[in-house]
Amino acid sequence: MKAEMDDVVAHPSLARVAPGRLTIRGTTALAGVIGWPVAHSRSPLLHNFWLARYGIDGAYVPLPVAPGAFDVAVHGLRAAGFRGANVTIPHKEAAFAIADRLHRSAVRSGSVNTLVFGQDGTIEAHSTDGDGFVASLEAKGVDVTRGPVLLLGAGGAARAVAASLLDRGVAVSVANRTAARSVALAEALSADGQVPVSVIDWADWTDRLPGHALLVNTTSLGMHGGPDDVFTPDLSRAPDDMVVSDIVYVPRMTPLLTAAVARGLRVVDGTGMLLHQARLGFKCWFGVDPEVDADIQALFDADLAR
Ligand code: ATR
Repeated sequence: MKAEMDDVVAHPSLARVAPGRLTIRGTTALAGVIGWPVAHSRSPLLHNFWLARYGIDGAYVPLPVAPGAFDVAVHGLRAAGFRGANVTIPHKEAAFAIADRLHRSAVRSGSVNTLVFGQDGTIEAHSTDGDGFVASLEAKGVDVTRGPVLLLGAGGAARAVAASLLDRGVAVSVANRTAARSVALAEALSADGQVPVSVIDWADWTDRLPGHALLVNTTSLGMHGGPDDVFTPDLSRAPDDMVVSDIVYVPRMTPLLTAAVARGLRVVDGTGMLLHQARLGFKCWFGVDPEVDADIQALFDADLAR
């Protein structure tokens, strides 16, 4: 028994808030993360930390679900009383299709990362990535409404971030290697919002830095295990008060952020987005809006460093 207690107190921030062990009872509220593979997911670490911190009778588990088994797994989880689940690669499209109700965030971003199972048996789908990104900047004291924002990339993450910025009335410019994708993103989001999205040629984005308040990388450039291309952008034309952010968080200091620091610019790394996107699901499933504070950031950083 002593060894178990030692395991629990091993992480200093967890010891401060959760000096006991997780206990599963008949009443325990359940949620999890559906992915394939899912072993790399840090969501269980984060959610179980919050459950312990707030003394909630709940548990959050990894749910490895193979491609093709998503629908049967989701209906099974719902039938078994789960409160809901996060959804990650490769199931994001299937999550969109299985929902009975799409939250506006899912429609605007064209993606889903959070499912909430209602007591009436319905499935509601949300995308929390964009709002998580904005919240992570606001938590660092960045006023995103100062805009305009220059977004690099036009994949699913770019659309989620762009949608949340546009919904706050912030002007967005998009630059992507494949121009057709930036145009498609601009069309998808401009149709619904009042603020138009402008498209910038990928070859020109460093020249177009003047006039932007925030630069955000949503491409996989610079990501551990991402493209081999060397990413050493020339930020010499960036305004002195520009804030630079990257949704890539492995490594934490990406090539873009390193270049920005060298240029004397303020940077916000991608870890905060992951922490903040987790909040909405937690709140829906377990009834508490959890705080993203220095303790959970330290827990996350320690896990990344392992
Ligand atoms: P996600 O949904 O996570 O955003 P994605 O749809 O695969 O992922 O998008 C990856 C982004 O990284 C895209 O904007 C992609 O550009 P393309 O649309 O031109 O493919 C961008 N990207 C990936 N490798 C790149 C590279 N070597 N140079 C520039 N952009 C790259």
